[in-house]
Amino acid sequence: MAQEQDVSRRDFVKAAGAVTTAAAALPGKVEGFPFINSVRAANEVVNYAMIGTGSRGTYLLKHFKTTDLGRCVALCDNWDVNLKKGLDTVGTNPAAYKDYRELLARKDVDAVMVTTPLYMHFPITKDVLLAGKHCFCEKSLVFKPEEVHELRALKESLPKQVLQTGLQRRYSQFYATAKQMIDQGVLGEVTHIRAQWHRNSNQRRPVPDPSLEKKINWRMYREFSGGNTAELASHQIDVADLMFGATPEFVIGVGGIDFYKDGRTCYDNIQLIFQYPKGRKLLYSSISTNSHLDLLQAKRVEFGEVIMGTAGTIEITIGDDNHPATALWYREPKPISAPTVTEAAKKKEEFKAGATMTTAAASAGVPLLLPRDAMNNQDSFLSREAKFARRWLYSKGIMVPEEDRNPVDVELEDFLLCVKDPTSRKPKADLEIGLNDSTAVILANLAMDENRRVYFNEIEKLGRAPETKPPAKKA
Ligand SMILES: NC(=O)c1ccc[n+]([C@@H]2O[C@H](COP(=O)([O-])OP(=O)(O)OC[C@H]3O[C@@H](n4cnc5c(N)ncnc54)[C@H](O)[C@@H]3O)[C@@H](O)[C@H]2O)c1
Repeated sequence: MAQEQDVSRRDFVKAAGAVTTAAAALPGKVEGFPFINSVRAANEVVNYAMIGTGSRGTYLLKHFKTTDLGRCVALCDNWDVNLKKGLDTVGTNPAAYKDYRELLARKDVDAVMVTTPLYMHFPITKDVLLAGKHCFCEKSLVFKPEEVHELRALKESLPKQVLQTGLQRRYSQFYATAKQMIDQGVLGEVTHIRAQWHRNSNQRRPVPDPSLEKKINWRMYREFSGGNTAELASHQIDVADLMFGATPEFVIGVGGIDFYKDGRTCYDNIQLIFQYPKGRKLLYSSISTNSHLDLLQAKRVEFGEVIMGTAGTIEITIGDDNHPATALWYREPKPISAPTVTEAAKKKEEFKAGATMTTAAASAGVPLLLPRDAMNNQDSFLSREAKFARRWLYSKGIMVPEEDRNPVDVELEDFLLCVKDPTSRKPKADLEIGLNDSTAVILANLAMDENRRVYFNEIEKLGRAPETKPPAKKA
């Protein structure tokens, strides 16, 4: 028992160290870490514009209001209903366009947000970069294999311009802390990640006029969308890439249009297995007929990830505006090596006692602590007491730790900071993170479509012009 407690304490110290390191690595304000905003000159505001002021666009415009580092100078949407929504959200009368090329011709625009449907990400992002602007493009970054190659080549030729992908989990304190815990060995060897995004919904949006079906419900159709692999799994594949520190080797999967036979051409349920180097795996599920989440004490619904290591587990979700990010950490019962039968008989009593004790420890689950809860030497007596009290409330399940800021606010502010200082500050969700993520989406859909194991090196050949053979010599 004493030994177990020692292990626990050691683990805890490691985890607390991870919290502090994670905090230092994150952009934005974290208690105890001075925020760069305080030294910014008033006239260094980034002029940004947005193309595609639909659901996500207007959401981001709202979140831009949490920072004064940027000013919205222009909006574009080729549907006047949504253009008006964007203008109303900003409320400061930015210029409005239906044709994005006119917006890109403006000299005062420093940076452009691309928040259109997936099939338009690459053509617009390419034009944004060619117009000399910095670019934030929503996930999934690109749609087709050829776009993976073309965007990489284009961006490499324009190294001074920022390109950030809308993968906001990369900007979360909880996810950064989990990553640091993994890197410091707190979870042992991480071998499996399980992720789900389950909804109990046909995921359709209401259509006022049938002629607008594909405009509004573009997510349902293959010619515009990668379905839930692109819309939902992309976020969680990126989590697995981050936590494993690698990209997959191959993917297999089954997808179907089994429950909503309403004319859609994208799968309504998908099951995927991604194999990463050293046999590590991401098990992924997205369904549209049940929203239960069997993680985080079933207090959340729909989406989350379980990171499983030989010494522990983290259950984590980014949540949403109403249910902030949260995470639980479980210690693994003491590993039991496979003894011979006689050895096992001798160790029977010891084994039983150990199992009971460690099962209890493992079943409790400890909230992942954020930087503000980590003890440090500078803490006053009162601050230490407050931290102890908060931890006690966490341990009783009366209170849960919450991030200081919504990761979406952090990702937007970090984008503006990168635009202000593109030589020394680089996005966490950069071009390669976005392309790796898009590659996984494209190949996972291919694996389901062709019912086969798809290796990730296939991307090198996909989307490239076939090698032209030299013409045969005439006899
Ligand atoms: N990071 C996230 O968590 C997150 C969440 C939701 C959506 N998204 C992404 O945001 C993107 C947009 O999703 P949405 O739900 O806002 O879609 P949406 O249909 O609500 O909005 C897209 C808007 O783009 C406009 N548009 C289409 N083509 C255009 C063009 N050529 N020029 C100008 N405007 C054009 C449409 O009229 C529409 O208003 C998608 O790529 C989606 O995957 C990301």
